[in-house]
Amino acid sequence: MKVGIIGCGAIANIIVTSVVPEKNGIDIAYFFDKDIERAENLASFADGVAVLDFDDMLDDVDLILECAAPVSVREYAPRVLEKGIDMIIMSIGALMDTKFYGEMEKLAKEHGAKIHLPSGAIVGLDGIKAVAKFGLKEVSLVTRKSPKSLGKDIDTEEVLFEGKASEAVKEFPLNINVAATISIACQRDIDVKIIVDPNVDRNVHEITAKGDFGEFKTTTMNYPCATNPKTSMLAALSAIRLLKSFNETISVGM
Ligand SMILES: NC(=O)c1ccc[n+]([C@@H]2O[C@H](COP(=O)([O-])OP(=O)(O)OC[C@H]3O[C@@H](n4cnc5c(N)ncnc54)[C@H](O)[C@@H]3O)[C@@H](O)[C@H]2O)c1
Repeated sequence: MKVGIIGCGAIANIIVTSVVPEKNGIDIAYFFDKDIERAENLASFADGVAVLDFDDMLDDVDLILECAAPVSVREYAPRVLEKGIDMIIMSIGALMDTKFYGEMEKLAKEHGAKIHLPSGAIVGLDGIKAVAKFGLKEVSLVTRKSPKSLGKDIDTEEVLFEGKASEAVKEFPLNINVAATISIACQRDIDVKIIVDPNVDRNVHEITAKGDFGEFKTTTMNYPCATNPKTSMLAALSAIRLLKSFNETISVGM
């Protein structure tokens, strides 16, 4: 499987340095970034090609992995999908716009492409998907972030946001991938609380789901990526797992 990457930052670096040395049928061959030096650095590690023009890689890849920014999903996803090329999207917040979501779904269907959204920085998405259409009554997310990760200097906890995921994405477009992923997985606008907490030094996500099936709670306490404190290490690892799953005969826990 030949892969092209959009966005050669923290997530891309973790994926490439893990996947490329394994040589397990995933050929990460093309690299695109608005900062060409970043694309060149990763291309040189992977023995791949850094492209200046995004469209240059589209005729030679099976999959595009987006790990850049929500705006890049809007710009590049239509060009990828209309060529029938599959896509992994990390900047999932972009898909909280229901009109854009519908357009991308339609485009993918028309051209025989698939859109994959990794579970990212949380655990528990398997359960949420399983119960989504079977009497799920309540889903909520409480995210705690350190003041440092948000550039704040406070010593008591502060509720930064409380409301629906669709509102959160407007106020925090770069911090809302987790809420977007859960909302899309259960097809509803979930309740979100974002707290700046001086007692945490990690990104903590608590999910609660209740319904006819019973109830579950998950807590994920993420260490940040070394090169981007806003991004959790687990987000990159979930994309690596997804990439590897394409070559597996038996899939578990999907
Ligand atoms: N799904 C999840 O759970 C999850 C978790 C963490 C981060 N993310 C998202 O993944 C994306 C990447 O995260 P990261 O930590 O690697 O970010 P990063 O800032 O470390 O790297 C992003 C890279 O993309 C490039 N870029 C940005 N906009 C671009 C554009 N329009 N065209 C081309 N290149 C562009 C930047 O130059 C940079 O090199 C972000 O959108 C982030 O919000 C998702």
